[in-house]
Amino acid sequence: MQNKVFSVKNIAKSFGSEKEHNYIEVIRDISMDIDEKEFIVILGNSGCGKSTFLKILGGIDSATKGSMELYGKNIGRQIPRNALKHFGFVFQSNNLLPWRTAEGNLRFNLNTMKLKGPEWEKRIDEMLDIVGLLDYKKVYPHELSGGMKQRVGIARALVHDPDILILDQPLGALDAITRKMLSYEILNIWKKTQKTIIMVTNNVDEAILLANRIFVFSNKPAVITHEIRVDIPVEQRNHEIANNQRFNELREQINEIVRATL
Ligand SMILES: Nc1ncnc2c1ncn2[C@@H]1O[C@H](COP(=O)(O)OP(=O)(O)O)[C@@H](O)[C@H]1O
Ligand SMILES: [Mg+2]
Repeated sequence: MQNKVFSVKNIAKSFGSEKEHNYIEVIRDISMDIDEKEFIVILGNSGCGKSTFLKILGGIDSATKGSMELYGKNIGRQIPRNALKHFGFVFQSNNLLPWRTAEGNLRFNLNTMKLKGPEWEKRIDEMLDIVGLLDYKKVYPHELSGGMKQRVGIARALVHDPDILILDQPLGALDAITRKMLSYEILNIWKKTQKTIIMVTNNVDEAILLANRIFVFSNKPAVITHEIRVDIPVEQRNHEIANNQRFNELREQINEIVRATL
């Protein structure tokens, strides 16, 4: 039996109001139970509500309906402030602080959570090492490539030791080659850190490489149209995955689903 970390029950989200003629229903009804160390991937068309959903999961916004449970405890429609430490967030645009070095960006995150001391300083180095950037710790964001900036963003999201890492199209702004390379790095980070990860992508191959389970969202208002378990053992998830028969079956199946949702 796996431990259930996080549950989302019938989450809905709308903006505006009927009265002001700006009502928009973005998420209709989403439920999922996420186990410890799972890698969940969400696939869906642009504008279907993926970021809106992740913002609710990461405590940046609240749901209009439904509830969430963290370690079996009901936390309602918005993640309470004191539970935010359980989450780490990476956005498509890296939003690093330009006036702070790589390590300074990580330290800033720790400071906002009042985490100080030698053990946290050590953790800054450990996380920069995990993303392969320890030698760049004194370097400012403008001196880093797009891929390196995203790696600092991932290290920053991990530095306070969250349980759940939320990744909103973290590779979306990168060129194809960097993107592929970093997708393998995310796989390694998952193996090394054993975090629960929830990631949005629009790339089917990336989804199969990384996910335990893939949820496909409908167009807005979002509901889950498919849940696909990726039954490829972790040992087979490597640079040879494109030769894997199961990978190719899943790819065909999911591409078919994605085409039908367009
Ligand atoms: N604060 C907001 N106010 C009004 N509409 C919003 C707001 N945030 C998102 N939306 C709408 O929600 C829809 C889904 O947006 P988003 O979640 O960013 O989609 P995705 O990440 O899947 O591309 C869009 O139509 C967008 O216009
Ligand atoms: Mg988005």
